Amino acid sequence: MASQATRAVGVDIGGTGIKAGLVDLEHGRLLSDRIKVATPAGAEPKDVLTAVTEVLQTLGVTGEAIPLGVAFPAIVKNGRTLSAANVSDEWIGFEAEKFFEDGLGRDIHFANDADVAGIAEVRYGAAKGQAGLTILTTLGTGIGSALLYNGVLVPNSELGHVQRANHARDAEAYAAYSAMEREQLSWEQWAERLQWYYSHIEFLFSPDLFVVGGGVSKHSDQFLHLLEINTPIVPAVHRNNAGIIGAAALSLS
Ligand code: BGC
Repeated sequence: MASQATRAVGVDIGGTGIKAGLVDLEHGRLLSDRIKVATPAGAEPKDVLTAVTEVLQTLGVTGEAIPLGVAFPAIVKNGRTLSAANVSDEWIGFEAEKFFEDGLGRDIHFANDADVAGIAEVRYGAAKGQAGLTILTTLGTGIGSALLYNGVLVPNSELGHVQRANHARDAEAYAAYSAMEREQLSWEQWAERLQWYYSHIEFLFSPDLFVVGGGVSKHSDQFLHLLEINTPIVPAVHRNNAGIIGAAALSLS
Protein backbone atom coordinates (compact mmCIF):
# COMPACT_ATOMS: atom_id res chain seq x y z
CA MET A 1 0.00 0.00 0.00
CA ALA A 2 1.20 3.51 -0.82
CA SER A 3 0.92 4.68 2.79
CA GLN A 4 3.50 2.05 3.83
CA ALA A 5 5.94 2.87 1.08
CA THR A 6 9.43 3.86 2.07
CA ARG A 7 10.38 5.05 -1.39
CA ALA A 8 8.50 7.02 -4.01
CA VAL A 9 9.24 8.90 -7.18
CA GLY A 10 8.66 12.64 -7.36
CA VAL A 11 8.26 14.58 -10.60
CA ASP A 12 8.30 18.36 -10.38
CA ILE A 13 6.97 19.99 -13.54
CA GLY A 14 7.98 23.64 -13.75
CA GLY A 15 7.62 26.42 -16.28
CA THR A 16 11.25 25.94 -17.36
CA GLY A 17 12.33 22.45 -16.34
CA ILE A 18 10.92 19.04 -15.40
CA LYS A 19 12.85 17.41 -12.55
CA ALA A 20 12.50 13.95 -11.09
CA GLY A 21 14.12 11.61 -8.62
CA LEU A 22 13.64 8.57 -6.44
CA VAL A 23 13.06 9.66 -2.85
CA ASP A 24 13.64 8.05 0.53
CA LEU A 25 10.39 8.91 2.32
CA GLU A 26 11.72 8.23 5.77
CA HIS A 27 14.44 10.86 5.61
CA GLY A 28 13.21 13.00 2.71
CA ARG A 29 16.29 12.72 0.56
CA LEU A 30 17.08 11.72 -2.99
CA LEU A 31 18.16 8.13 -3.56
CA SER A 32 18.90 8.68 -7.23
CA ASP A 33 20.49 11.34 -9.39
CA ARG A 34 18.22 14.24 -10.12
CA ILE A 35 16.96 13.88 -13.70
CA LYS A 36 16.16 17.14 -15.46
CA VAL A 37 14.81 17.95 -18.92
CA ALA A 38 13.62 21.27 -20.32
CA THR A 39 9.89 21.89 -20.21
CA PRO A 40 8.77 21.65 -23.87
CA ALA A 41 8.15 25.03 -25.53
CA GLY A 42 4.52 26.02 -25.07
CA ALA A 43 4.10 23.35 -22.35
CA GLU A 44 1.11 21.70 -24.00
CA PRO A 45 -0.29 18.62 -22.26
CA LYS A 46 0.82 16.02 -24.80
CA ASP A 47 4.39 17.36 -24.94
CA VAL A 48 4.64 17.55 -21.15
CA LEU A 49 3.39 13.96 -20.90
CA THR A 50 6.07 12.85 -23.38
CA ALA A 51 8.75 14.62 -21.34
CA VAL A 52 7.50 13.09 -18.07
CA THR A 53 7.49 9.64 -19.70
CA GLU A 54 11.09 10.21 -20.74
CA VAL A 55 12.30 11.22 -17.28
CA LEU A 56 10.60 8.16 -15.75
CA GLN A 57 12.26 5.92 -18.33
CA THR A 58 15.61 7.52 -17.58
CA LEU A 59 15.04 6.89 -13.88
CA GLY A 60 14.07 3.31 -14.71
CA VAL A 61 10.81 3.52 -12.78
CA THR A 62 8.06 2.70 -15.22
CA GLY A 63 5.25 0.51 -13.87
CA GLU A 64 3.27 0.63 -10.64
CA ALA A 65 5.84 -0.81 -8.23
CA ILE A 66 6.86 2.52 -6.71
CA PRO A 67 4.34 5.27 -5.82
CA LEU A 68 4.56 8.37 -8.04
CA GLY A 69 3.79 11.97 -7.14
CA VAL A 70 3.58 14.65 -9.82
CA ALA A 71 3.68 18.38 -9.09
CA PHE A 72 2.45 21.01 -11.53
CA PRO A 73 2.72 24.83 -11.64
CA ALA A 74 -1.01 25.62 -11.54
CA ILE A 75 -4.01 25.51 -9.23
CA VAL A 76 -4.90 21.83 -8.82
CA LYS A 77 -8.34 21.02 -7.52
CA ASN A 78 -9.72 17.46 -7.51
CA GLY A 79 -7.20 16.42 -10.15
CA ARG A 80 -8.02 19.29 -12.49
CA THR A 81 -5.67 22.13 -13.35
CA LEU A 82 -7.53 25.41 -13.11
CA SER A 83 -4.95 27.99 -14.15
CA ALA A 84 -2.01 28.38 -16.52
CA ALA A 85 0.39 31.22 -15.78
CA ASN A 86 3.55 29.76 -17.33
CA VAL A 87 2.15 26.81 -19.30
CA SER A 88 -0.28 26.37 -22.19
CA ASP A 89 -3.85 27.64 -21.67
CA GLU A 90 -4.97 24.11 -22.56
CA TRP A 91 -4.40 23.24 -18.89
CA ILE A 92 -7.19 25.54 -17.70
CA GLY A 93 -10.08 23.34 -16.60
CA PHE A 94 -8.18 20.23 -17.75
CA GLU A 95 -8.50 16.74 -16.20
CA ALA A 96 -4.76 16.67 -15.73
CA GLU A 97 -4.44 13.88 -13.16
CA LYS A 98 -6.52 11.52 -15.32
CA PHE A 99 -4.57 12.60 -18.40
CA PHE A 100 -1.27 11.64 -16.75
CA GLU A 101 -2.71 8.42 -15.32
CA ASP A 102 -4.05 7.37 -18.72
CA GLY A 103 -0.86 8.41 -20.50
CA LEU A 104 1.49 6.76 -18.01
CA GLY A 105 -0.75 3.72 -17.49
CA ARG A 106 -0.60 3.96 -13.70
CA ASP A 107 -1.93 5.78 -10.62
CA ILE A 108 -0.31 9.04 -9.59
CA HIS A 109 -0.70 11.63 -6.82
CA PHE A 110 -1.06 15.10 -8.29
CA ALA A 111 -0.76 18.56 -6.71
CA ASN A 112 0.50 22.13 -7.06
CA ASP A 113 4.30 22.49 -7.20
CA ALA A 114 4.69 25.06 -4.41
CA ASP A 115 2.30 23.15 -2.16
CA VAL A 116 4.40 20.00 -2.44
CA ALA A 117 7.59 22.00 -1.77
CA GLY A 118 5.83 23.18 1.39
CA ILE A 119 5.04 19.59 2.33
CA ALA A 120 8.72 18.66 1.85
CA GLU A 121 9.91 21.50 4.07
CA VAL A 122 7.35 20.82 6.79
CA ARG A 123 8.10 17.09 6.90
CA TYR A 124 11.84 17.12 6.36
CA GLY A 125 13.13 20.69 6.31
CA ALA A 126 13.01 24.31 7.38
CA ALA A 127 9.40 24.29 8.59
CA LYS A 128 9.55 21.06 10.56
CA GLY A 129 7.95 21.55 14.00
CA GLN A 130 7.19 25.20 13.22
CA ALA A 131 4.14 26.52 15.08
CA GLY A 132 1.74 29.01 13.57
CA LEU A 133 1.82 30.14 9.96
CA THR A 134 4.68 29.30 7.62
CA ILE A 135 4.61 30.74 4.12
CA LEU A 136 6.88 29.01 1.65
CA THR A 137 7.48 30.86 -1.57
CA THR A 138 9.26 29.48 -4.61
CA LEU A 139 11.13 32.05 -6.66
CA GLY A 140 11.53 30.64 -10.15
CA THR A 141 9.82 31.11 -13.49
CA GLY A 142 6.85 32.27 -11.42
CA ILE A 143 6.30 32.77 -7.71
CA GLY A 144 4.56 29.85 -6.02
CA SER A 145 3.30 29.77 -2.46
CA ALA A 146 2.37 27.24 0.19
CA LEU A 147 0.52 28.17 3.38
CA LEU A 148 1.20 25.83 6.30
CA TYR A 149 -0.59 26.35 9.58
CA ASN A 150 0.77 24.27 12.46
CA GLY A 151 2.16 21.92 9.84
CA VAL A 152 -1.09 21.56 7.91
CA LEU A 153 -1.18 22.69 4.30
CA VAL A 154 -3.92 25.07 3.13
CA PRO A 155 -3.68 24.22 -0.57
CA ASN A 156 -3.74 26.40 -3.66
CA SER A 157 -2.76 29.77 -2.32
CA GLU A 158 -1.59 31.78 -5.32
CA LEU A 159 0.45 34.51 -3.68
CA GLY A 160 2.58 34.99 -6.78
CA HIS A 161 -0.37 36.70 -8.34
CA VAL A 162 -1.01 39.46 -5.83
CA GLN A 163 -1.29 42.76 -7.64
CA ARG A 164 0.83 45.80 -7.06
CA ALA A 165 -1.19 48.98 -6.62
CA ASN A 166 -1.20 51.02 -9.85
CA HIS A 167 0.87 48.50 -11.77
CA ALA A 168 -0.18 46.21 -14.58
CA ARG A 169 2.28 43.43 -13.71
CA ASP A 170 1.51 41.10 -10.84
CA ALA A 171 4.03 40.09 -8.18
CA GLU A 172 5.59 37.21 -10.09
CA ALA A 173 6.05 39.20 -13.31
CA TYR A 174 7.86 41.82 -11.22
CA ALA A 175 9.74 39.82 -8.60
CA ALA A 176 10.17 36.16 -9.68
CA TYR A 177 13.72 35.00 -10.36
CA SER A 178 12.81 34.99 -14.06
CA ALA A 179 12.24 38.78 -13.84
CA MET A 180 15.75 39.20 -12.45
CA GLU A 181 17.19 37.16 -15.33
CA ARG A 182 15.02 38.76 -18.00
CA GLU A 183 15.82 42.30 -16.89
CA GLN A 184 19.41 41.52 -15.89
CA LEU A 185 18.95 42.94 -12.42
CA SER A 186 21.72 42.92 -9.83
CA TRP A 187 21.08 41.09 -6.55
CA GLU A 188 20.49 44.48 -4.92
CA GLN A 189 18.01 45.59 -7.57
CA TRP A 190 16.15 42.31 -7.34
CA ALA A 191 16.17 42.47 -3.54
CA GLU A 192 14.34 45.83 -3.72
CA ARG A 193 11.53 44.05 -5.54
CA LEU A 194 11.58 41.20 -3.04
CA GLN A 195 11.49 43.79 -0.26
CA TRP A 196 8.19 45.07 -1.62
CA TYR A 197 6.89 41.53 -2.07
CA TYR A 198 7.73 40.07 1.32
CA SER A 199 6.66 43.26 3.17
CA HIS A 200 3.33 43.10 1.43
CA ILE A 201 2.79 39.41 2.14
CA GLU A 202 3.94 39.96 5.73
CA PHE A 203 1.37 42.74 6.14
CA LEU A 204 -1.41 40.59 4.66
CA PHE A 205 -0.73 37.39 6.65
CA SER A 206 1.51 38.13 9.68
CA PRO A 207 3.31 34.80 9.24
CA ASP A 208 5.69 33.25 11.76
CA LEU A 209 8.20 32.07 9.18
CA PHE A 210 9.00 32.57 5.51
CA VAL A 211 10.79 29.77 3.67
CA VAL A 212 12.31 30.62 0.29
CA GLY A 213 12.53 27.84 -2.28
CA GLY A 214 13.18 27.57 -6.01
CA GLY A 215 16.50 27.18 -7.80
CA VAL A 216 17.77 30.57 -6.62
CA SER A 217 17.48 29.52 -2.98
CA LYS A 218 20.98 28.05 -3.31
CA HIS A 219 22.16 31.66 -3.65
CA SER A 220 20.13 32.89 -0.68
CA ASP A 221 23.25 34.41 0.90
CA GLN A 222 23.24 36.92 -1.96
CA PHE A 223 19.86 38.43 -1.22
CA LEU A 224 18.06 37.27 1.95
CA HIS A 225 20.20 39.48 4.22
CA LEU A 226 19.20 42.52 2.15
CA LEU A 227 15.54 42.14 3.16
CA GLU A 228 14.21 44.15 6.07
CA ILE A 229 11.16 42.41 7.41
CA ASN A 230 10.08 41.38 10.89
CA THR A 231 9.41 37.74 10.07
CA PRO A 232 12.28 35.23 10.08
CA ILE A 233 13.10 34.27 6.48
CA VAL A 234 15.21 31.20 5.66
CA PRO A 235 16.11 29.20 2.56
CA ALA A 236 14.39 25.88 1.91
CA VAL A 237 16.58 23.09 3.31
CA HIS A 238 15.92 21.04 0.20
CA ARG A 239 16.52 23.98 -2.13
CA ASN A 240 15.30 23.15 -5.60
CA ASN A 241 14.73 19.48 -4.74
CA ALA A 242 11.86 20.36 -2.40
CA GLY A 243 9.38 19.90 -5.26
CA ILE A 244 10.66 16.41 -6.11
CA ILE A 245 10.76 15.35 -2.47
CA GLY A 246 7.35 16.83 -1.70
CA ALA A 247 5.75 15.29 -4.79
CA ALA A 248 7.07 11.91 -3.69
CA ALA A 249 5.95 12.54 -0.10
CA LEU A 250 2.41 13.06 -1.35
CA SER A 251 2.11 9.32 -1.73
CA LEU A 252 2.16 9.08 2.08
CA SER A 253 -0.85 11.36 2.46
C1 BGC B 1 1.37 29.50 -10.66
C2 BGC B 1 1.41 28.69 -9.38
C3 BGC B 1 2.76 28.01 -9.23
C4 BGC B 1 3.87 29.01 -9.36
C5 BGC B 1 5.24 28.38 -9.29
C6 BGC B 1 2.54 30.44 -10.68
O1 BGC B 1 2.55 31.17 -11.86
O2 BGC B 1 0.17 30.23 -10.76
O3 BGC B 1 0.36 27.73 -9.38
O4 BGC B 1 2.81 27.36 -7.99
O5 BGC B 1 3.77 29.72 -10.57
O6 BGC B 1 5.45 27.46 -10.31
